[in-house]
Amino acid sequence: MGSTSKYDFNSPINRRGTNSSKWDGAVKVFGKEGLLPFWVADMDFRSAPEIIESLRKKVEFGVFGYPIMTDEAKKSVADWERTRHGWDVDFKHVSFMPGVVAGLSVAVQTFTAPGDGIIIQTPVYPPFFQVIKDNGRVVVENPLKETDLRFEMDFENLERVITENKNVKALILCSPHNPVARVWDRYELERLASVCLRHDIMVINDEIHQDLIYSDAKHTPLAVAAKELSPLLVTLVAPSKTFNIAGLSASAWIAEDPKVAERLSRSFATLHIGSINLLAIAALEEAYKNGAPWLESALKYLEGNRSFLEDFLNNKLPRVKMKHPEGTFIFWLDFRDYGFHNDELQRILVKEAGVALNPGTNFGANGDGFARLNIGCSRSQLEEGLERVERTFAKL
Ligand SMILES: Cc1ncc(COP(=O)(O)O)c(C=O)c1O
Repeated sequence: MGSTSKYDFNSPINRRGTNSSKWDGAVKVFGKEGLLPFWVADMDFRSAPEIIESLRKKVEFGVFGYPIMTDEAKKSVADWERTRHGWDVDFKHVSFMPGVVAGLSVAVQTFTAPGDGIIIQTPVYPPFFQVIKDNGRVVVENPLKETDLRFEMDFENLERVITENKNVKALILCSPHNPVARVWDRYELERLASVCLRHDIMVINDEIHQDLIYSDAKHTPLAVAAKELSPLLVTLVAPSKTFNIAGLSASAWIAEDPKVAERLSRSFATLHIGSINLLAIAALEEAYKNGAPWLESALKYLEGNRSFLEDFLNNKLPRVKMKHPEGTFIFWLDFRDYGFHNDELQRILVKEAGVALNPGTNFGANGDGFARLNIGCSRSQLEEGLERVERTFAKL
C-alpha cells in the first residue's frame, strides 16, 4: 500500500529481541515459537518523531535525577483535552500516575470498601476483573447487549443489577470500549450518568482509548456528556495507546470535584505513586503538545487496516463476523459460527494457524467463541495473519 504520509507505518519493524511483551513474550504465553502476534495492545509503529527527539535530548543530557511534575506538563494534558475533545478542564485538576491500571486500583481502594460491588460491562479489558478481585471487592457484571449492528450498554439490566446488589458502590467504565471497539455516543453516556447519579455510584472512567477514534465516530468525554456527574467521577487518560509509548508508563487522572480530587490525591500520596519518571514526563508533554499530526497519520493508516480487515472478512472469511469498529486498534472477532469453545478456538489459532490473538474468555465468560485482534501493525503483517487464519479455517 502506498502512503502519502511523511511517517512510515507501512514498513514492518522487527521487534523480536527488543524486550517486547507482544513479540518476545508470546512463546511463554501461547506455548509456540514463530507466532505472528496480534495480542498485547501496543502498535508495531515508531512513535512520533517529536517524541523520539524529546527523549533523545534527555538521554544525551545524561543526568536522570528526580523530575518535578510541572504545570507545563499538566497544561499539555488540559490543552489536549480541550482542543481534541472539547473538554474545558482546568490544568489544576490534572495529576499524574504511572499507569491507568494502577489508577483504577487506587480509585477502587479510595471510593469503595472491601466487599462492595463494582459494576463492569463485559466483555471487557481483563484487568478490570483483577483490580476488583485483588482489592477484595465483588465483580458485578452488566453484560453488553448485542444487536445486529453493535454492542450496547444494557440499561435495563444495569438498573436490575443495582437493585439486586445493594452494596454496589462503583462502576468502571471503558470509554471507548476494549474489546468491542465501541465509541459510546453522547446519549448513552448521559443515560449511564443519570443512572449512576440516581444510585450514588462512583464512576471510575477509563478513557485510555479516547484518541483512537475513526472518521465515522466521535468520542465525547463522560465529563462533557454529564457535567453534573462530577462529584462521582474520576477520568483516567494517557498518551500511551495514542502515541505508542505504553512502555514509558505515563498517564494522568482528572477529577474536577475538589472532594474527589482530594481523596484520590491522598491515596496516591500514601502509595507514593503520584509522579512519573523523567522520560515519561518528557514524552507525555511532547506528545500532547506536538504529536497531533503524527496521530492523524496513524489514524488514517489504522483506518486503512480496518477497511482491509473488513473486506478480508467479507470476501474470504465470511463466517468470522465483526461489528464495525468505531475506535481503538483492538477488534473483537466473532468465530461463533464455527461452534468452537474458547480453548479449542485458541488451539486452532495458535497451533494450526500460527497467530496469537487474545482469548475471548479472558474478557469475561460471554467472550466464548471470540478472539481479540490487534490491527496496530503493518498492512503486510495483518494480511499475512489473516491469510494464515483463512488457510486454516478453510479446512474446518
Ligand atoms: C482499557 C484499558 N485500560 C488500561 C490499559 C493499560 O493501561 P496502563 O498500561 O497505563 O496500565 C489498557 C491496555 O490495553 C486498556 O485497554
